[in-house]
Amino acid sequence: TDIEKGTYPHYMLKEIDEQPFVIRNIISKYKDENENIKLDEDVRTAVTQADRIYIIAAGTSYHAGLVGKEMIEKIAGIPVETHIASEFLYNMPLLSEKPLFIFISQSGETADLRGVLVNVKKLGHPTLTVTNVPGSTLSREAEYTLHTHAGPEIAVASTKAYTAQMAVFAILAVDAAQKRGVTMEFNPLQELAIVANAMEIFTERKEELEQVARDFLSTTRNCFFIGRALDYHVCQEGALKLKEISYIQAEGFAGGELKHGTIALIEDGTPVIGLATQPAVNLNIRGNMKEVVARGANPCMISMEGCEDEGDTLVIPRVHEYLTPLVSVLPMQLISYYAALHRDCDVDKPRNLAKSVTVE
Ligand code: G6P
Repeated sequence: TDIEKGTYPHYMLKEIDEQPFVIRNIISKYKDENENIKLDEDVRTAVTQADRIYIIAAGTSYHAGLVGKEMIEKIAGIPVETHIASEFLYNMPLLSEKPLFIFISQSGETADLRGVLVNVKKLGHPTLTVTNVPGSTLSREAEYTLHTHAGPEIAVASTKAYTAQMAVFAILAVDAAQKRGVTMEFNPLQELAIVANAMEIFTERKEELEQVARDFLSTTRNCFFIGRALDYHVCQEGALKLKEISYIQAEGFAGGELKHGTIALIEDGTPVIGLATQPAVNLNIRGNMKEVVARGANPCMISMEGCEDEGDTLVIPRVHEYLTPLVSVLPMQLISYYAALHRDCDVDKPRNLAKSVTVE
């Protein structure tokens, strides 16, 4: 990937569009000549010897870590905790006997993460950095590195790095499961190829997403994202994208938690973006959507084939249930992009934000 904008008006749009290629690139980098997962034996050993994994990250990478936790726990059966780096540094939880620390960082330079890395190395624990920049500080200072192969990300709002991080975690989770002797029907290399195709469909549906942004977000002051299970984590990321570039006050909530307080904020016309890709909680999230609609919300439901319902605003193609975040985040990225454009915001360089934060 070169770092020219080419015909694109913004880096962010270019980077959104690159996601299918990034996923295909990751597949090829993590596949051996027998079509099996290719991973450094040391990394493999470090992951499977851990009795608990601590994922440390900030911002969008933290949101990828929340999904990464679910993948490793559900697929490989290893307990995982995901922590905000700046919180972990000064308020460390009790550690297990054989922890592995995984640092997720697009840039590999975030100071909050480095603080944790330095500390846990002093305690003698193994460390792995998952990064888009292999020569970066966090990559050099950790024992092991996994490369997310997304190519340079220039826009401040992270897009392709997030989906790349989650793809690498899916591969890591299945690899660990195999090494631990768990039989797996889920082949991440094949399923990620399906994800790449599904992503492409979205990057070709921009006009529709621009219209959604216009219908729901052109004048609003706030916006809520609701989802359950993996969808909840994608909602947190969707809300962060919208806040970062459009300055609309946005929050991602667990669908069932809304009624315990936040629903008080719903007024006539408040946009609520719902995500429904998880069959096990489909009825529940639809119930939550009805609750907000009854209070006047303007509902925008994004669902996946198999979970769809009449009246949904967008339906995404079906992908493996562990990988839905990689596809469902695309409409959110694009909706945020167009919302920012309509509101005349500086998409690639939002106010008050830096691409990488190298101070604590
Ligand atoms: C900054 C950026 C965010 C990013 C976060 C973590 O705050 O504005 O977009 O998610 O840092 O960055 P990292 O490079 O560690 O993933």
